[in-house]
Amino acid sequence: MVRPDASPQDLKRDLADRLEAARAKTLWLLNQVPEEFLRRRVHSFYSPIGWHFGHVGRTEEYWTVGEALRKPLLDDHLSFLFADLADNPKDNRVNIPDRAGIERYLEITRDRVLAALKEADIESNSPLLHGGYAWDFSVQHECQHQETICEMLQLIQRELGPRQLPTPFPWTRGVATEMIQLPGGEFSMGSADAFAYDNEKQPHQVHVAAFSLARTPVTAYDWTEFIADNGYSRQDLWSKAGWEWKDPEEPDLPDRPEYWLPPTEGHYAYGPLGVRAIHPDEPVSSLSHHEAEAYAKWAGKRLPTEEEWEYAASAGDYPWGNQDPDPSKANYGLQAWNPKPTATHSTGATPAGIQDLAGQVWEWTSSKFLPYPGFTAYPYDGYSKDHMRGDHYVCRGGSWSTAAPILRRTFRNWYVPTYRQGLLGMRLAE
Ligand code: AVJ
Ligand code: FE
Repeated sequence: MVRPDASPQDLKRDLADRLEAARAKTLWLLNQVPEEFLRRRVHSFYSPIGWHFGHVGRTEEYWTVGEALRKPLLDDHLSFLFADLADNPKDNRVNIPDRAGIERYLEITRDRVLAALKEADIESNSPLLHGGYAWDFSVQHECQHQETICEMLQLIQRELGPRQLPTPFPWTRGVATEMIQLPGGEFSMGSADAFAYDNEKQPHQVHVAAFSLARTPVTAYDWTEFIADNGYSRQDLWSKAGWEWKDPEEPDLPDRPEYWLPPTEGHYAYGPLGVRAIHPDEPVSSLSHHEAEAYAKWAGKRLPTEEEWEYAASAGDYPWGNQDPDPSKANYGLQAWNPKPTATHSTGATPAGIQDLAGQVWEWTSSKFLPYPGFTAYPYDGYSKDHMRGDHYVCRGGSWSTAAPILRRTFRNWYVPTYRQGLLGMRLAE
């Protein structure tokens, strides 16, 4: 990280390096996509996977060349096709170019984005230019789409079906969790960072009452106990909306996390690169909010609120303090293509000993995605504001796929409560 008082030249060099680092991962991901899936929708929730790649290029060119520098874009037709706009519905997005066309579009838009950075006056007071905001926004945006791409690779693997099953892990619990008592009190929630998203601002004092938070996320082993205890079929454990979502009339009702293979096959899940053996101590993932709530009720506990989660993580910019993330602290940024056994990143624990808050899997909270006091939408309503109608729940902490630029403790992610395709699990509170 460069210091905020760095010279414009140093800031520009750092932005260019971070754009480049994000792009290397994006292109690597593009190489993992089987040809026949590039322009096909594998799920009603998603655009075709190829669209996400072009969208990354379109978004950075639009905000830097177009909005910050007010210059014409490379190709208005492609810019529209790769935009997330209501008049470009997901069904229209199958009409994108082929792999070579997507690669070319990414390469040329990136050249234009870097040329724009060279000539931009980033000492200007214009908010998109100042400090290189539009370029930093582009890095964060690219990192977010890498996560969606990983989810979609898992859906693609599920469609391809299991090939060879790897050696399974013995199914026993290796990590015992515990509830850690936190005293509660006042803390500053949210971010004052110029590059934080609009929904993280402004910092404000919040009071949290004393509560307990689990030392680790709920594990895959824990989840098999919930299944064995008929958790999916006991109506008393489910909210009304959750039970209706599960729809007992449906033959396909969920009875296990989204990417798990049927129990007859053993403990396996579809990862982005193929079927993998689930480790019993890894955080469970691909749960809907409804499932997370049902589990918490079964366990006699509850989900943490968003305020509680951030309070527990508030030792600094990250749950462990202010040092930059590294692989000894957290499983993030595609070091691995899956969650790792929990409690193996002890240097990433909070001062109270809570582990794996950052990385591994996103964690559902009981809080709806709503604006903080004094919220103003920036740079556009579609990023946060349009989703703040109270129909999304916040999740926190990042996943094994979340890149360092968006692993900060104030970062908010959100989904509808039925969404179970994410790299998304849970942690208990009481
Ligand atoms: C915050 C993950 C719900 O993927 O729709 C990407 C992030 N916003 N491009 C999404 C986002 C614009 C967003 N989520
Ligand atoms: Fe986007």
